[in-house]
Amino acid sequence: MSVIYLAVGSVTGTALMVGKAIQQQLEQSGHQVVLDENPSVGALNDSQCDAVLICTSTTGRGDLPANIIPFYIELEQQFPLQNGKPFGVISLGDSSYDATFCGAGALFEERFFELQGRAPVPRVTIDATETVTPDDDALFWLKEWMEKAL
Ligand SMILES: Cc1cc2nc3c(=O)[nH]c(=O)nc-3n(C[C@H](O)[C@H](O)[C@H](O)COP(=O)(O)O)c2cc1C
Repeated sequence: MSVIYLAVGSVTGTALMVGKAIQQQLEQSGHQVVLDENPSVGALNDSQCDAVLICTSTTGRGDLPANIIPFYIELEQQFPLQNGKPFGVISLGDSSYDATFCGAGALFEERFFELQGRAPVPRVTIDATETVTPDDDALFWLKEWMEKAL
């Protein structure tokens, strides 16, 4: 059994819906999940997690959803080194935004690499123009991530 800290960044609820599907699947597989809609480094540390997941949409022009901005800033300021701890990023976006497609997820992936996290599976991008079942797409990615990370 592993403990997973799952940070969610969402504006209109799609990434939260996906995050809840991920939580359910992980729990069904016997793991413990701390799903956090207001993530913080303090909560990340308190969770004593074995792995970290970030599930976030992108807003504005490649911007982070407001609820996950403080977490991103704290990660830079407090720099909690991950020492090879596994992480994974599920990034939701819309490819019609072109250059900023899934930009928020890319920022978190970059940050966790800076913190010396380990990504057993590359970040997944979920394109709103290509799928009406983002939760199923995320669960497909999660299967491989669980096998390699946990
Ligand atoms: C105002 C607005 C701005 C957006 N900007 C971007 C963007 O810059 N890049 C991107 O990939 N997707 C962008 N999107 C698409 C969303 O990330 C996508 O629809 C996502 O599924 C929304 O998830 P949420 O409901 O969890 O926020 C934008 C959507 C809206 C409504």
